[in-house]
Amino acid sequence: MGFFRRLASGTSLVYLTQSALAIQLPPGYDTVWTTQSNNSAGSMPVGGGDVGLNVWAEAGDILFYIAKSGAFDENNSLLKLGRVRLSMDPNPFEMNANSFEQHLNINDGYITFTGDNNTLIKLWVDTVTSGIHTEITSDNHLNLTAYFEAWRLTERPMGSGEEVQTSWGVNSVSEIPLPTQYPDKIDYRHNGVLSYHHNHDTPLTTFQISEQGLGDADPSSFFNPMKNNTFGAFMWSRQLHPGAITSGAYNGTNFTAYNLVSDRLSKSFKLYIGTEQSASTNIDQWAESFIKDALKMEMASQHNTIEWWNAFWDRSYIIINPDAGPDDSGFQVGKNYQYFRYMMACNAKGEYPTRFNGGLFTFDPSYVNPIWYPYTPDFRKWSGGTFTAQNQRLLYWPLLKTGDYDIMQQAFNFYQNILPTSRALGKLYFGLDVALTSEQIDNTGLPNVYEYNANVFSNSQTRDPVLYPAGIDFNDWLSWYQDTANEFVDMILQAKMYNGLDITPWKPFVEYQLAWFDEYYQQRNGLESNGTLIIYPGSGAETYKLAFNSASTVSGLRKTLSDLLSLNQNWSKGNATYYAQYLSRVPATPLHSCPGYSTLTCVAPALNYSFTENNEPTALYTVFPWGEYGLGQPTNLSYAINAYFNDTQSATYHGTYGWRQDQIWFARLGLTEEATANIISRLTDSTTYRFSAFKGPNYDWSPDINHYGSGAIGLQEMLMQTFALNNTQIRLLPAWPSEWTGYFKLQAPFSTVVTANITGPSVSNLVVVPASRLSDVVYGTE
Ligand SMILES: *[C@@H]1O[C@H](CO)[C@@H](O)[C@H](O)[C@H]1NC(C)=O
Ligand SMILES: *[C@@H]1O[C@H](CO)[C@@H](O)[C@H](O)[C@H]1NC(C)=O
Ligand SMILES: *[C@@H]1O[C@H](CO)[C@@H](O)[C@H](O)[C@H]1NC(C)=O
Ligand SMILES: *[C@@H]1O[C@H](CO)[C@@H](O)[C@H](O)[C@H]1NC(C)=O
Ligand SMILES: *[C@@H]1O[C@H](CO)[C@@H](O)[C@H](O)[C@H]1NC(C)=O
Ligand SMILES: *[C@@H]1O[C@H](CO)[C@@H](O)[C@H](O)[C@H]1NC(C)=O
Ligand SMILES: *[C@@H]1O[C@H](CO)[C@@H](O)[C@H](O)[C@H]1NC(C)=O
Ligand SMILES: *[C@@H]1O[C@H](CO)[C@@H](O)[C@H](O)[C@H]1NC(C)=O
Ligand SMILES: *[C@@H]1O[C@H](CO)[C@@H](O)[C@H](O)[C@H]1NC(C)=O
Ligand SMILES: *[C@@H]1O[C@H](CO)[C@@H](O)[C@H](O)[C@H]1NC(C)=O
Ligand SMILES: *[C@@H]1O[C@H](CO)[C@@H](O)[C@H](O)[C@H]1NC(C)=O
Ligand SMILES: *[C@@H]1O[C@H](CO)[C@@H](O)[C@H](O)[C@H]1NC(C)=O
Repeated sequence: MGFFRRLASGTSLVYLTQSALAIQLPPGYDTVWTTQSNNSAGSMPVGGGDVGLNVWAEAGDILFYIAKSGAFDENNSLLKLGRVRLSMDPNPFEMNANSFEQHLNINDGYITFTGDNNTLIKLWVDTVTSGIHTEITSDNHLNLTAYFEAWRLTERPMGSGEEVQTSWGVNSVSEIPLPTQYPDKIDYRHNGVLSYHHNHDTPLTTFQISEQGLGDADPSSFFNPMKNNTFGAFMWSRQLHPGAITSGAYNGTNFTAYNLVSDRLSKSFKLYIGTEQSASTNIDQWAESFIKDALKMEMASQHNTIEWWNAFWDRSYIIINPDAGPDDSGFQVGKNYQYFRYMMACNAKGEYPTRFNGGLFTFDPSYVNPIWYPYTPDFRKWSGGTFTAQNQRLLYWPLLKTGDYDIMQQAFNFYQNILPTSRALGKLYFGLDVALTSEQIDNTGLPNVYEYNANVFSNSQTRDPVLYPAGIDFNDWLSWYQDTANEFVDMILQAKMYNGLDITPWKPFVEYQLAWFDEYYQQRNGLESNGTLIIYPGSGAETYKLAFNSASTVSGLRKTLSDLLSLNQNWSKGNATYYAQYLSRVPATPLHSCPGYSTLTCVAPALNYSFTENNEPTALYTVFPWGEYGLGQPTNLSYAINAYFNDTQSATYHGTYGWRQDQIWFARLGLTEEATANIISRLTDSTTYRFSAFKGPNYDWSPDINHYGSGAIGLQEMLMQTFALNNTQIRLLPAWPSEWTGYFKLQAPFSTVVTANITGPSVSNLVVVPASRLSDVVYGTE
């Protein structure tokens, strides 16, 4: 254990840089368009703090949507703050303008447009204030009109199907009333436009609390991001003043536009849009203090924001074939990997996690599917406030190796904030002081109302109280699926292991979440005669239902408890002895003769299960996320390889997109060819949308952020693996195609930073800090 002792006394290196100069991403990583776009689906992302914009030029106007983390309405839609349109006269962006360019400057995190007469528009979002800055300069005198376009101006019932953007259900349910939408308030104030939405009731939470039987509890004891939530934008410019109020329609959504118009023609304009989201019961005060802050925006310099982005890029990168040109698939994979991180970073300071289904960058849903989703720009499938754990985890796992521990904390806080609710559920239903978390979990910590009783709503079945006791989702897909939250537990522990993050704030979540499996299953089933837990009924993700000792659950508990013990922390619900005993109670990962290949041994998805629902080979969760099987581990790797290829029952459960993890498993199994083909299909440039890292909807929504999160994990694991031998091994190029060269910088456990040039089959210029970790480096599949 000398290794651990050495680390304990060492310093924790946070963002170690190799040189004083921050890295510059290759110039080819900028996105440059020389024609305008057809519509909002042809937009590119920019953002900062907790605000994301979809930015595009269309028919001579510059447009952008404004999205802000935490902008949940009464029923948990994540609303856009609005849309801004800039029009100039004479117009340097006329359709026939010959010098059009829209340019994403990825290194510095901003967008420029260039048009006739050297007109330049620069658009950036302040990483500290989340304020939106628009700076226009031109050789010619221009008249600028800035329109704030709002589409929620009347109370309106939602269309059937539209309510899936809320948390009333991911399917239309006639049993649940169709939500109406309350209007925003918008008006001219202080020579600008103020637009905001204030939640003055919480019908969804009221329903959920009663559905969950928590009616006797004090509602104020529950964490509720919708309660009194107030969010909006204030747009102003010293050079503009209120003009007409006009109206129009954009792709079928009517809007009203509050115009700010020019006092006089000018060669330069500055337009500011402040953004705000917080709970408030005094709207006048909220608005005044928000406007006051927004009026200070003209003092801000872009310098700090550029420095923030430069430091962010310097933390970590994987650059592939940097000189090969934009059509090279390796080049595209590297670029779009960086774009995933970019989209996560636009919400770096968000209080709420980035959503797997579109993040802050959704656009008009008719461009996802005009027949199915003819709704407003607020629409996304799978709700704005249900944080489906299976999908969310894929956005946060890759942030360990990129060193984005600051961003990860929003996902950790998500679970810690709802812990009082999770514990109330554990107590109410099972009399246990444990956290009862669910899979389709709302930002209140309560299960999505439809999912909780899906079999009642959709099939009129009655709940069998033995198989589906109250408190457990009565849902063929989601029942007993509590273990995705264990992945966030392990991320917390690994964030500590990776760079010494102080995990004190999340220790209660870690302990009460793990306690569910030990306390509930003992209460229900006792123990096996050899002292192990009987984890039944359980679940292998959404696939193996009413499972007995699901491989994904038992392997995960073993890994998580081992990580917990290795950190030598003080715990309060349990202690080290308790967690060591708990670990010894975790059943073995099940094995069986591969279905269809009786001579081969496979990791089994579970000892037994009743039926399958979705189609995921969850035996492979022992490879990722849990690393029980993998290169360098003492287990028999062929059992996992067989489970992927030679289990006729699950061999049809393969795939390359969305939340699937095949490419991660290939990398961890050392299967270079399969990993490369899969990651190329996943991460090369989009052919569906104009921005190269907007793919979707796949199973979820466009842009499909969990598609990229899963891809990012896969690419990292192809290049460097660190899970083996109790997280001590550093394995380079385990599944890396020899035709990909470049350079990288990644974080490894125990405050280690690894940088090297990739020369294809090997690396050069390898620098491992601290140097003592050099001896842990191995290569390929050796
Ligand atoms: C705009 O739409 C046309 C017709 O569908 C298509 O050919 C063109 O590529 C689109 N332009 C862009 C920039 O996407
Ligand atoms: C460019 O500037 C000239 C005058 O300097 C003006 O006549 C012309 O309209 C401008 N063109 C555009 C598209 O703004
Ligand atoms: C929220 O949904 C409920 C249930 O459908 C509905 O009664 C209510 O009007 C909705 N409220 C708002 C503000 O959207
Ligand atoms: C929110 O604030 C309003 C005042 O605007 C207050 O009347 C209301 O009771 C508060 N609570 C909820 C749950 O909406
Ligand atoms: C919105 O866009 C979709 C996709 O291009 C198109 O099919 C539909 O007709 C548009 N709807 C309206 C009302 O413009
Ligand atoms: C949009 O506006 C048009 C014209 O004013 C009107 O006919 C139409 O009913 C409106 N649509 C909706 C959904 O309100
Ligand atoms: C600019 O255009 C707006 C809208 O057409 C108009 O109201 C305003 O008077 C114009 N300003 C100047 C200085 O021409
Ligand atoms: C530690 O936990 C074990 C097992 O739960 C318990 O028996 C023991 O009393 C605990 N020790 C202390 C010092 O709390
Ligand atoms: C304990 O007993 C169960 C039931 O017989 C068996 O499946 C398991 O392999 C045994 N040992 C462990 C470590 O799980
Ligand atoms: C297992 O599957 C692989 C890949 O499909 C196949 O090549 C191999 O022959 C199978 N193994 C056996 C023993 O059939
Ligand atoms: C990991 O650590 C545990 C406890 O120290 C030890 O029993 C086990 O053998 C180690 N596993 C590997 C693969 O090194
Ligand atoms: C090694 O990587 C660095 C970037 O870290 C790059 O500047 C340099 O050109 C690379 N050297 C070789 C030989 O590829």
